[in-house]
Amino acid sequence: MSPLLHGRTALCGGLLLSSLAAFQDSSPEDTRPPHERIDLPSIAACGGCHEKVFREWAESLHSRAWTNENARVATRDFQKKSCRPCHSPRSVFETGFDRAPAYRDFNQRDGVHCLSCHGLDDGVAAARTIPDAPCRPRREPRLIQAEHCYPCHEPTHGAFAEYRTSDAFALGVRCVDCHMQPRPEGDGRSHGSHGGLNPDFVRRAIAWEAERTDGAIELRVRNRTGHRFPGEIPSRAFLIRMDLPGHETQSVLLRKPFRGEKREDNRLRPDEERTFQFPLPRGGESARLRLLFQPFPLLPVEESFLLGEKTL
Ligand code: HEC
Ligand code: HEC
Ligand code: HEC
Ligand code: HEC
Ligand code: HEC
Repeated sequence: MSPLLHGRTALCGGLLLSSLAAFQDSSPEDTRPPHERIDLPSIAACGGCHEKVFREWAESLHSRAWTNENARVATRDFQKKSCRPCHSPRSVFETGFDRAPAYRDFNQRDGVHCLSCHGLDDGVAAARTIPDAPCRPRREPRLIQAEHCYPCHEPTHGAFAEYRTSDAFALGVRCVDCHMQPRPEGDGRSHGSHGGLNPDFVRRAIAWEAERTDGAIELRVRNRTGHRFPGEIPSRAFLIRMDLPGHETQSVLLRKPFRGEKREDNRLRPDEERTFQFPLPRGGESARLRLLFQPFPLLPVEESFLLGEKTL
């Protein structure tokens, strides 16, 4: 399957409903408490009781860390051993927050399992202790801190090195404040797809303004994320295009270089405001400026996410 097609299927929930029904009552003979069930798919370990969280998680890349096509190709179907730990991790609380997690060498298809993030020795990490709940939630303040994301998100891609230079970090804005926002219903935080495959989410990444000056279009773009824009995942790209009738299209592509590629990393740094100039030939026609986000390389412009446009 091409990455492009993969992206499309990735956006829908697939057989979620039927599998949810099938697991609603997990096997009665399994008497182990939920926090010991990391060998079972997340839906069986937790999803039957936490249906809303499960549905959200199933839409996110955390649930597809082992199965998504880009990861499969890049890791040669995970034959590369060094690629396994974070794409099928045991609990980060088990190994500590200063290193990559241990590889979960079973139930890999579940990717970043509920227990990869929540698993404690004696229960599940939670905002508060709830003595009577079957999964034994125990207050663990570190769950919500940026440090919790570190073991998987720092070692390979340096997300924290960027984050620590950001205004967000200085102001105490954590990863979850952008990526796992409180649900409007007020019953917890969304575990859903809040990354580069969600156009509404990506639109929050930048602020911009454009004007026509003497002989040029001037565009100013500011990065509002807590890291570079586009962030971490190397296949994402930011494309600025100016179309002018009767003239060649002018464009700028901002992306991370692939491994071994001789190209500058021209992505926006955290909080950076950058000005782009597009010269205008003489004449009165108006130019169309478009700010586009390409979740996959070489995606046709028409299928990219439109972050903004203006006719000047
Ligand atoms: C048999 C049903 C059941 C299973 C299975 C289960 N839970 Fe729970 N869980 C509950 C109940 C009931 C509560 C308490 C809800 C409340 O009081 O608001 C709870 C509470 C929680 C909380 C705290 C919620 C809060 O309001 O702060 C977390 C976190 C949690 N569960 C995670 C998990 C994880 C992770 C798993 C899988 C390992 C799991 N649960 C499995 C029933 C279950
Ligand atoms: C320390 C943890 C860790 C290790 C080890 C790791 N990854 Fe990842 N990987 C991540 C995280 C976190 C992401 C998501 C954010 C990102 O891309 O940085 C990711 C995302 C990816 C993606 C993007 C998938 C997509 O949805 O497009 C690919 C491809 C990938 N990894 C390949 C690899 C390869 C190849 C290796 C081994 C050489 C590897 N990973 C090892 C943590 C890890
Ligand atoms: C990437 C890490 C991560 C994964 C994976 C994850 N969670 Fe969470 N979860 C969190 C964080 C962070 C919070 C917020 C804790 C807080 O508010 O203090 C949370 C909160 C919760 C809560 C509290 C109520 C709510 O809705 O916010 C429940 C219940 C819960 N998670 C269950 C699950 C279940 C079930 C799964 C798997 C389907 C899962 N989590 C997967 C990190 C994760
Ligand atoms: C146990 C490992 C692990 C932890 C802990 C973890 N992540 Fe991830 N995360 C991953 C991996 C692996 C991927 C990439 C999956 C892929 O694309 O193959 C990922 C992907 C993501 C994405 C892209 C999701 C999407 O649906 O587009 C975001 C955003 C993200 N993580 C944020 C966070 C935040 C915020 C935290 C801390 C609360 C966190 N992660 C904790 C392993 C982890
Ligand atoms: C101020 C808000 C904000 C903060 C803080 C923030 N991010 Fe992001 N992040 C975004 C936005 C918006 C995007 C989507 C645009 C992009 O690709 O950069 C994003 C993109 C990402 C991606 C790429 C997802 C994908 O599917 O392409 C990952 C992974 C990620 N962030 C992880 C983190 C981690 C880990 C932290 C904490 C160290 C963090 N972010 C802090 C707003 C934020």
